[in-house]
Amino acid sequence: MEQNNGTQATEFILLGFAGQHKSWPILFTTFLVIYVTTLVGNTGMILLIKIDSCLHTPMYFFLQHLAFVDLCYASAITPKMLQNFVGTEKSISFTGCMVQLLVYGTFATSDCYILAAMAVDRYVAICNPLRYPIVMTQRVCIHLLAGSYFMGFLNGSVNTSLTFSLNFCKSNKINHFFCDEPPILALSCSNIDLNIMLLTVFVGFNLTFTVLVVILSYLYILAAILKMSSAAGRRKAFSTCASHLTAVTMFYGTLSYMYLHHGTAESQEQEKMASVFYGIMIPMLNPLIYSLRNQDVKKALIGIGKKCF
Ligand SMILES: *[C@@H]1O[C@H](CO)[C@@H](O)[C@H](O)[C@H]1NC(C)=O
Repeated sequence: MEQNNGTQATEFILLGFAGQHKSWPILFTTFLVIYVTTLVGNTGMILLIKIDSCLHTPMYFFLQHLAFVDLCYASAITPKMLQNFVGTEKSISFTGCMVQLLVYGTFATSDCYILAAMAVDRYVAICNPLRYPIVMTQRVCIHLLAGSYFMGFLNGSVNTSLTFSLNFCKSNKINHFFCDEPPILALSCSNIDLNIMLLTVFVGFNLTFTVLVVILSYLYILAAILKMSSAAGRRKAFSTCASHLTAVTMFYGTLSYMYLHHGTAESQEQEKMASVFYGIMIPMLNPLIYSLRNQDVKKALIGIGKKCF
């Protein structure tokens, strides 16, 4: 055990945002509203898809799991953050921090893969409509989904276990509002080269692969839509993928912003804001995007409303 200028940390302090002690009531209320909306929206989406048999298609199967994944990673971050706004002690135990990193690392990556699987689903539906029932079988969907969870767990478990086998003796103050890998690594007095390399390889591979799948699928979809002769057909094809395209753009837009601004000291607060968007806002917005822009979801909601009243 190498110990430089202190003892091994047993708990961490989450510093949160600069100046958060002054504006905590506003921050607390805002994030509480966001979190409750996330819980209601995603749980509602999961139940709606379960109840309405018109929504038992591959697209909604993936959407249901997207909602579950969003629910999980928002829940790993937000409750602790809310607690820290109110409390004077902003500590998180070693184990708590580990769980946060594992859950976040796992589900954020699964989210990327599920979005990619949904792009493939839209590609087959629009470019190969006749073969759609043969290609997107239940078996294929389950395999794609299991792959998404597996890649997520691989990223989360490898990065988390390697991070927490390090020594933390520099300081225990994490300059962030949750336990994310880069601010934790900054506190270690061990050699972190391997951690940085693995994180770069994992994040690089997961992002490049899923972004490529999404872009390629949408290029083919675009080509197919442009080739359609009827305006009505074009509109229908476009409307079936508009919500997915919005969600994907938002997700990867924030991610690329985060990684492009990485490193500069003055951008640290901006980076925190970007990860608020990524970790907290996107899970809230996903169900809204899908329910507001989607005719099938609207119909299902109205149908349930009619049944109830
Ligand atoms: C993989 O996990 C790490 C830490 O657990 C996390 O920082 C990173 O965002 C995850 N990768 C992706 C692509 O989400």
